[in-house]
Amino acid sequence: MLDKYETHEHDVVIIGAGGAGLRAAIECSARGLKTALICKSLLGKAHTVMAEGGIAAALANVESADSWQTHFQDTMFGGKYLNNWRMAELHAKESPDRVRELERWGAVFDRTPEGKILQRAFGGHTYKRLAHVGDRTGLELIRTLQDKGIHQGIDVYMECTISRLLKDGDRMTGAFGYWRENGRFVVFKAKAVILATGGVGKCFKITSNSWEGTADGHALGFEAGAELVDMEFVQFHPTGMVWPPGVMGLLVTEAVRGEGGILRNSKGERFMEKYDPKRMELSTRDVVARSIYTEVKEGRGSPHGGCFLDISHRGAEYVKRKLPSMYHQFKELADVDITKEPMEVGPTCHYIMGGIKVDADTGATRVPGLFAAGECTGGMHGSNRLGGNSLSDLLVFGRRAGIGAGDYAAGAPAANIAEAEVEAAAAEMTGYFGRPNPESPYKLHIDLQNMMQSMVGIFREEGDLTAAIAKLQEFKQRYEHVAVEEGQRMYNPGWHLCRDLKNMLICSEAIARAALMRKESRGGHSRLDFPKYDSYWGEHNIIISKDGPAMKVEPRETVKVAELAPLVEARKAKESSK
Ligand code: FUM
Repeated sequence: MLDKYETHEHDVVIIGAGGAGLRAAIECSARGLKTALICKSLLGKAHTVMAEGGIAAALANVESADSWQTHFQDTMFGGKYLNNWRMAELHAKESPDRVRELERWGAVFDRTPEGKILQRAFGGHTYKRLAHVGDRTGLELIRTLQDKGIHQGIDVYMECTISRLLKDGDRMTGAFGYWRENGRFVVFKAKAVILATGGVGKCFKITSNSWEGTADGHALGFEAGAELVDMEFVQFHPTGMVWPPGVMGLLVTEAVRGEGGILRNSKGERFMEKYDPKRMELSTRDVVARSIYTEVKEGRGSPHGGCFLDISHRGAEYVKRKLPSMYHQFKELADVDITKEPMEVGPTCHYIMGGIKVDADTGATRVPGLFAAGECTGGMHGSNRLGGNSLSDLLVFGRRAGIGAGDYAAGAPAANIAEAEVEAAAAEMTGYFGRPNPESPYKLHIDLQNMMQSMVGIFREEGDLTAAIAKLQEFKQRYEHVAVEEGQRMYNPGWHLCRDLKNMLICSEAIARAALMRKESRGGHSRLDFPKYDSYWGEHNIIISKDGPAMKVEPRETVKVAELAPLVEARKAKESSK
């Protein structure tokens, strides 16, 4: 069964080639380590490019009062104080350096009249803080990191999916995968592995994620023994396209609202006046997404089940200069000229705050030799991420995971991979061929997405969550039968989906179980049956780990940093006095 497979040996193997993976790889290779970067897709095609509107960093170029302390406070307020305090501190302190570094490496940011990096407003940020390149910031970030990384000598492996992490006892020894093009197997030996696989959007029906967002790192880490944290917190970006159906969910950048875009319902009312009169359209994403959802549910939606977002009052020249991608996106995909008429938009699953639990300083998980960075990790954003904080997260913690894994690899012995482990990983993949009573992976995926969207979506309640968990058990049984035609390993997306489904089922179960346990509403977790904050849950994260074949779900007290407490208390006092 196990025909020939190729083997590659590196000091550090990084799985995922978005912003976090690339930044980690640059750090490892700069330290002279033999570094592999594995992309499921083509290099440069990453969800990072969907962070269009900017990168948050307290550069204070536009509003000089900005500081790391205010950025820290905004991030904690946005996350409703459940964030990993140390991560939020490092992020706020180090983002400006990471942005300046990016500029040194060739990123071409928009400029102030004095020639400084221009910054724009975004939801939940006190000051104009988002350094940007029109509405293509993520793309510029990826382009810059790619150039830097390739010239530095990173080994890039494209169109390769990792299906299993390999261990010797407790310790990481590498990864097993297959080439998507021809289905042949490949083993990567490594002293350290960094997971940087991004998000989980494909567990839901309406998402801004493209096909790669199938929870791979979350599930690989969980299966290898790492803990997951905050999995109940899923971010529905308020503005995705709702029409035409083929592009439903495609992101409409928050920069539209940052540049003055106004949200209205079918009656022409500027409804954010009701929900957050102070911040209006620039309220935090959780609030804006729930507000749009409520307007639609109560019968004040737009013709295709969203609301209207209008930027036409800024004038055609301004809109085309500041939001060129949005202009083309709507013109080409929906035949709407956004310089003259409003867009129709609605919430789309964009990001998960929860993920692999890591040490803030090094990106280390509790599995020796396994590190993680970026969206597949949890903690940094608490219960809700502020727009623009993901690009800075990727750079700050991608770099830190690179240093952490690099230090570990420099002191670790060579990896020793057991043939039996490789055989088991190969058998898992070939096991999807020609099963009796086959179940279509496509049908199971659609059923999973519909269920997650309707029962574990923006608003949740006990009955739905309990039913969702029961459904997931049924889906897991069906998964045992997912199959594709015998032997066809070349260009076989159905086969690939079989394995991706395992990851999505693990992740969906983690989201649903944590959502059921958290009996309150906070950030990206809204319970109709527990609509308020709860003081116990305001001090506890939910941790999920593998317990034999089961999933262990337990609350754990949030770890605070004494020196940061005055900043947190000051922000809480300011908010409660409003
Ligand atoms: O709306 C946006 O441009 C997305 C930014 C982000 O998710 O950080």
